[in-house]
Amino acid sequence: MTAAAARAPRSLPGRRVVLADAEIMARSAAAWLLNRVLDTPGRVAVCLSGGNTPRPVYALLAKPPYRDCFPWDRVHWFWGDERCVPPDHPRSNFAMVRAVLLNHVPIPPAHIHPIAAADGPARGAATYEDELKGFYGADAFASGRPLFAATLLGLGEDGHTASLFPGVAALAERVHWTAGVPEAKPEARVTLTYPTLNCSAAVAFLATGPAKRPILHRLARGEDLPAAHIQPVGNITWFLDRDAAP
Ligand code: 6PG
Repeated sequence: MTAAAARAPRSLPGRRVVLADAEIMARSAAAWLLNRVLDTPGRVAVCLSGGNTPRPVYALLAKPPYRDCFPWDRVHWFWGDERCVPPDHPRSNFAMVRAVLLNHVPIPPAHIHPIAAADGPARGAATYEDELKGFYGADAFASGRPLFAATLLGLGEDGHTASLFPGVAALAERVHWTAGVPEAKPEARVTLTYPTLNCSAAVAFLATGPAKRPILHRLARGEDLPAAHIQPVGNITWFLDRDAAP
């Protein structure tokens, strides 16, 4: 064993919850989200992930028992990233959540905060930064006052999370709350930056299926991948199914 391998941590940072399959993982993540919201008094901000993995979680929230017991009137919904496409585009993260969740539950329209990414990466990022600062009520994060009570994140096979892809300029952004990602393919994107995602009281990463196992293994070995820089002020929980778990 090399010295580097000996030093490498052998576990994912945070708590790891391994479930039998993707459906049970979704049930577990939905329960986690409800509990995070119920544990947070007053107005609550939740940050949602795009991608396919969280879709069954959103579908569960739209149905009983979640639909009936979720405190919809005090939760505000934000997105961790968005593609620069119109809000009804098939690849829009907002369109996905709207179809699966928002259309089916009594959320006050003013509590839905999509990223206006169709305006292009730079303008979309600037507009969303203003929106986040307006909601937070300050231009800088205060210690002990997380922006998000709960943040859901996915994991790409290259180690990206939100739209923080390996090598993009947004990885280095420490001042702005959002960033354009013009490098993203097939279209540019807007993403929340590390300081913003890390201003979360709790983060849940969701990953299922055998295709995610190699990257989870690399993360567990301590590789410097974009997802490894998610270090929230609160805790991280990894919701995995058996196929993905390293
Ligand atoms: C997106 C994301 C992205 C996603 C990962 C995993 O908009 O696509 O926010 O970071 O979570 O690419 O995607 P899957 O869940 O589809 O594997």
